[in-house]
Amino acid sequence: MDPITSVTTTRLALTPLSPGDLANVFEIFSDPRTWAHLPSGRHRRQEQSEALIAAGQRSWDESGAGPWAVRVGEAGGPGGLPPGAFIGIGGVTLTGSGLWNLGYRLTPATWGHGFATELAAAALSAAATADPTAPVMARVLSNNPASSAVAERAGLTLRWEGPARDAVAADVCRRIYADRAFTGAQIEWLIARA
Ligand SMILES: CC(C)(COP(=O)(O)OP(=O)(O)OC[C@H]1O[C@@H](n2cnc3c(N)ncnc32)[C@H](O)[C@@H]1OP(=O)(O)O)[C@@H](O)C(=O)NCCC(=O)NCCS
Repeated sequence: MDPITSVTTTRLALTPLSPGDLANVFEIFSDPRTWAHLPSGRHRRQEQSEALIAAGQRSWDESGAGPWAVRVGEAGGPGGLPPGAFIGIGGVTLTGSGLWNLGYRLTPATWGHGFATELAAAALSAAATADPTAPVMARVLSNNPASSAVAERAGLTLRWEGPARDAVAADVCRRIYADRAFTGAQIEWLIARA
């Protein structure tokens, strides 16, 4: 089957992330509001966004799916956003141990309208087309309930919870959601990177 690349959902236009998206990606990834749960992840230099885009392109080339540039569709978006406005990135990336990693990061003006849930559904379809044998997982910190809500609404189930290496506070833990049970090797790989 041909891989799913560009997709139009009810309200979004999704295209494989490309170098032309650099300025938009950096704007969102350098915005402290999109890293409230993990301030150390914020991009401080454009090169970090460049590296992220390059990794995304490798995912598309090597596994047939990867992160999308997320734009609002023909109806436009909240607050008068025009059709085609860039609002974030999201999708699945194939990681080590044969796992699809579901991720999403959207500009704050668009939060709370179900856009991440809509793109997560498209990402699960893309993963199922590119390699249905690989589980889809989402790694979330417990201080990020909006992200957990998206993972759950995409149909993923909490499979593991434990200490997080990069947590901002002692009471913050790692939650790993997935669409199916992990093998022993997969869960070991995940815990080593929790
Ligand atoms: C996580 C993120 C992508 C969600 O985007 P979104 O388009 O607002 O998500 P949706 O509207 O599809 O769904 C969000 C859900 O979380 C819920 N939610 C939002 N804030 C919440 C909070 N503080 N506590 C509990 N639930 C919350 C919303 O109510 C909604 O669920 P509902 O519709 O059932 O009420 C967005 O907040 C974001 O980009 N955050 C910064 C980056 C990030 O954290 N990415 C994930 C890293 S793991």
